[in-house]
Amino acid sequence: MSRAALDAVLAAEDRTPIEGADPIVSVHEDDDAEYVAALEEYGLGVHELERRGHWHGRWVELDPELEPRARLPRPAICRRRVLEARPLVLRGAVSAKLSDWRNELFAADRALESIGTPAGFEAWIRARLGRGSALRLERVEPGGVDAERDVATAHFVRADGSDGPRPWAKVGRLSTHDGDASLRLRTGFGNEPDDDANPSPPGQRATLSLARALLPELALVNDDKALFAAIDEVSACDEPLGPACPIAYWNRPGGGALFHHDAFEAVEGPDRQFGVLYVQLAGATAWLALSTTQLARRLEQFAAALDEGEVPWLREQLGGTGALEALETLRHDRFALLEELGLPGQGRLGALVNRGPEFTAFLADLGHAAVLRAGDAILLPNNGWRSTALHSVYCASNASNYALSLGLRPRRQVGSARRR
Ligand SMILES: [Fe+2]
Repeated sequence: MSRAALDAVLAAEDRTPIEGADPIVSVHEDDDAEYVAALEEYGLGVHELERRGHWHGRWVELDPELEPRARLPRPAICRRRVLEARPLVLRGAVSAKLSDWRNELFAADRALESIGTPAGFEAWIRARLGRGSALRLERVEPGGVDAERDVATAHFVRADGSDGPRPWAKVGRLSTHDGDASLRLRTGFGNEPDDDANPSPPGQRATLSLARALLPELALVNDDKALFAAIDEVSACDEPLGPACPIAYWNRPGGGALFHHDAFEAVEGPDRQFGVLYVQLAGATAWLALSTTQLARRLEQFAAALDEGEVPWLREQLGGTGALEALETLRHDRFALLEELGLPGQGRLGALVNRGPEFTAFLADLGHAAVLRAGDAILLPNNGWRSTALHSVYCASNASNYALSLGLRPRRQVGSARRR
């Protein structure tokens, strides 16, 4: 009997689950007893979402048998989703290999303790590069382009003294919040931010070479022919894709990333980044992920719900941000709404799209949530600035949490990534 209350949410016509993910719904203090009983009976896990000192609600992960339509469809349908910039979860994408890489993953997890200061970062790099590397550490500078969050930036040159693109690696905090110890290590080349979208093959290859030296566990993903063949089968690119500008993430409890996308405004043609593959290698993260078009539609629906008097306190609580006023204007102009969502931090709508638990729960109940565990991956397509997969990340484990994120670019730009 209790199942009916749950089915009413899962089978709602308007729910569009992330395919490949286990179903997730939000749960609230005032939910009726029948619904709570159903969640207890069919729930596989409960996630309390907290990020940067703000509580974003409680999600319950459910038995995947309850939502058959969320299964990963055949490749032709997956490709359609990619063309729509809808995310796909690749459950267990690299699970079978984790045990073979446990030593590297253990070391990667421990790196969090070393790299949080410029001196620690430099010592860690020197230990990782070792002798015989084609790259030499030139210098480590405290800080970086992001003055508030960057801890240190390391610059590299070719060990043989020859000219060539100059890759860099930088470590930075994910936020300035005191309670968030999350770090990330980004790699790139040239000047930030001018070269962030630069497809130059020599630069891309030098960056990948540096990332391989610093993050040996990268080979676990990079050299996975079956994984890249599966990505090529569904991608919007006519050519094979390869990994670009890897980023390592150490998400810590209370941390995570606000809503954002990984598209570069300047490049929308065949040389662009076609998406991002995020691979969870230790611990778990909870996600909201959906296309720009989906988020625009959800915001229009949320505006209508506010009109009907739902969550009346939000007008007062978001009053100083201008977000609801912006939505009131933009809800009647889809193009302008998509433009706004493409802006850094989603422009004037940032305070609303990151608002929990109200908007977070609204999106989760409409199917846009997922939890990734070690071995899982999420594919975040990017078809340009106004059609990309927007995503918001929470830490969903108390212990170690480590992940790699790879840009996906035409393989002719990044070279062969499958040698080892
Ligand atoms: Fe991202």
